[in-house]
Amino acid sequence: MGKTLKAGAAGIRKAAAALRRGGVVAFPTETVYGLGADGLNPEACARIFEIKGRPRFDPLILHECSAARARKLFARAPAAAEKLMKKFWPGPLTLVLPKAAAVPDIVTAGLKTVAVRVPSGPHALALIKAAGRPIAAPSANRFGQLSPTAAGHVTKQLGDGPDLVLDGGRTRIGVESTIIAFEKGRPVLLRPGGLPLEEIEKAAGPVLKPGKTGKKPLAPGCLKKHYAPSAKLKIIKPGSRVKPGPGAAYLAFSRKPAGRFAAVKVLSRSGDLREAAAGLFRALHALEISGARVIYAEEVPGHGLGRAIMDRLRRAAA
Ligand code: TXA
Ligand code: MG
Repeated sequence: MGKTLKAGAAGIRKAAAALRRGGVVAFPTETVYGLGADGLNPEACARIFEIKGRPRFDPLILHECSAARARKLFARAPAAAEKLMKKFWPGPLTLVLPKAAAVPDIVTAGLKTVAVRVPSGPHALALIKAAGRPIAAPSANRFGQLSPTAAGHVTKQLGDGPDLVLDGGRTRIGVESTIIAFEKGRPVLLRPGGLPLEEIEKAAGPVLKPGKTGKKPLAPGCLKKHYAPSAKLKIIKPGSRVKPGPGAAYLAFSRKPAGRFAAVKVLSRSGDLREAAAGLFRALHALEISGARVIYAEEVPGHGLGRAIMDRLRRAAA
């Protein structure tokens, strides 16, 4: 019925009750809004796929409210994984490891591994705790489209699909979690995200990047085209000349372009990659509704959160 509630104590209580009844609730995490359901209830999880229009081969992430509870969703974990859980949970890190027997097949799309994370967003933690079970949640957007970083983005795409939308304002990090799997005990990067790779490598040593070897992506959902606005997106070098006009919008990293565009957004005037990531999807949502047919997006530096930003821009442009 698509009701939006403020993410205060009463809203969280109602949302948790809806989840326990098998309902579907959109809620804020520190990364993006998730579309949640009881992760141990296959029928409830099935509704997530319907509402998003998501193919059933694309598995879901399970969210828990503590590292100790999250650990129980895995059958086993190598030492490097234990280290990462201890250091980065709660936070924007998802780990993929062999699943415990209790995890339903619909969550993992039939895989023997499961993706799990402990979000640090206070509303998400309170909701999971109140629901008392792991919450399965992909990002709360229609399949392939822009991720939501505000409650309004969710209702724009999903209408009254979810039973409830919890409004906790803008999300702090703004890009999805970093996803790490393991091969022979060594970490492998499946998706760059809100936890910079440099920090993971400092804690657990070198991380393999399978994208570079030309092997097919290990995350079924990491399709080449994804996170796409309705306008065509073109990546350009900062400051390069493009044709302005009412049919073009511009996403700048730190400096406004010359000329009149349908809309212009600057991600961070000081060139700060964290600030840029936090506002990335909000800026793309705004440029999308400007009516422009093409969005020019400037490249950002590829380190820290810049790696996640460039990953999202490349998929949006594919
Ligand atoms: O920050 C986030 O991670 C957000 C918030 C809501 O937590 N969630 C999110 O979920 O981005 P989603 O479904 O949009 O992206 C999860 C990705 C998908 O590409 C999926 O294919 C991959 O994780 N994934 C899930 N389970 C997997 C598994 N067992 N093996 C490999 N990849 C998996
Ligand atoms: Mg997603």
